[in-house]
Amino acid sequence: MDYRNLKPFPEGFLWGASSSAYQCEGAYLEDGKTLSVSDTAPVPEGTTDFNDGIDHYHRFREDIALMAEMGFNEFRFSIAWPRIIPQGAGEVNEVAVRHYHDVIDECHKYGIEPVVTLYHFDLPQVLQDKYGGWASRQCIDDFVEYCKVCYKEYGSKVKYFLTINEQNMMALFQGAQYGSEKGQWQANHHMLVAQAKAMIECHKIAPNAKVGPAPNITAIYPASSSPADNLAAMDWDQLRNRLFLDTAVFGTYPEALLNWWKDKGIAPEITDQDWEDLKNGNPDFIAFNYYGAGTVRYVSEEEGKNIKSDTANFMSGLMTYPGMSTAVQNPLQEHTSYGMGIDPIGLRITLRQLWERYRLPLIITENGCGVPDKLEEDGTVHDPYRIDYLRRHIRACQEAITDGVELFGYSPWSAFDLISTHQGVTKRYGMIYVNRDEFDLKDMKRIRKDSFFWYKKVCESNGKDLD
Ligand code: BG6
Repeated sequence: MDYRNLKPFPEGFLWGASSSAYQCEGAYLEDGKTLSVSDTAPVPEGTTDFNDGIDHYHRFREDIALMAEMGFNEFRFSIAWPRIIPQGAGEVNEVAVRHYHDVIDECHKYGIEPVVTLYHFDLPQVLQDKYGGWASRQCIDDFVEYCKVCYKEYGSKVKYFLTINEQNMMALFQGAQYGSEKGQWQANHHMLVAQAKAMIECHKIAPNAKVGPAPNITAIYPASSSPADNLAAMDWDQLRNRLFLDTAVFGTYPEALLNWWKDKGIAPEITDQDWEDLKNGNPDFIAFNYYGAGTVRYVSEEEGKNIKSDTANFMSGLMTYPGMSTAVQNPLQEHTSYGMGIDPIGLRITLRQLWERYRLPLIITENGCGVPDKLEEDGTVHDPYRIDYLRRHIRACQEAITDGVELFGYSPWSAFDLISTHQGVTKRYGMIYVNRDEFDLKDMKRIRKDSFFWYKKVCESNGKDLD
């Protein structure tokens, strides 16, 4: 529906941006840190690894000063588990603990609210080697112990903790490492229980802090108006979205999905104590990352088995569930040069669905336009495409707020360029350019892009000035 007048963003709305430790810190083996599974994962040829990042570990004061200049009142970053507890479990690394105190204090110096992710793709490699990471129930306890350290240290000065970044992307795209579909969903179940227990502990140890999950959530469109495609969209929504939020909010698995898994013999083993933990772990809010809606069509068991991952069929190859659905490109959706969707209406739909289902305050913890940028000879970076992208998504937020959605923050990806998960530093998301290439670290100078000046107006006007 169209409105004649949009409601303003609420007072105190959080405007900022997001990052993750392994993609920006660098210093990957410094001050006692050990390797994470992200540090050791192979990177595609022609793209950098994460070892040097953008040197945020050493330059965080300069970076936070720039965010303050942009008018931020929020900064989302993650704490690196292998920095805080280098052996994954056991001894705490005091140098690392001090480092994140310094980062948090630096944010507060400028009135910036730190939004802290506890786990963003960087499981300590030692735990992967020792017991197969999330395949083992032991990982639940080790994660919870690590979270407890963070709550005890930072719980009095951090208002918002995020448990796990994009558990759904890890479950869906890295599931093959568990050897079978049952293993994949069992490991995922361990993570869900770990998250529930981490939320319980947060409420005990840091009663003034709030805690919530941070999955990647998106509206799902049926590829056609056929009843079969509509059912496929509903089913894919259960697996891609609801599996991660119904469990967190209601402590229940989506019923049809669980029955489908049971029918296939791949349902995870769930103990009575697990159900108890899932019920008792309650989020105070939902954080979610959004990059563009998904589109699926129905696929039979027979056809689905023959869909292979190749470049022509990238989406389907990655996301085909025979007997349920397969992902397809949506010809009616715009895309970036990297093929990522540009769909502000999809964001409004997603916000509405989340609010109507869960009735919890929402914060967008990622959204953004990753493309190459050009540093001009005069030292400027013109990125009108990024401004356009952000403007349209912020407008969609305002429409959703007018619909009645309780949204309390917008934290796009990202303040500064950092290393993409698998497409190097050439795929830039920042409003601050970082002067480095894939393999030439150059001087890593920070340079304000045009979007920096535009977003500054947005933050300072509390979203009134989007021109
Ligand atoms: C999200 C992740 O999936 O998307 C980030 O939480 C990631 O870590 C971001 O960087 C953008 O994706 P990519 O693959 O372009 O880096």
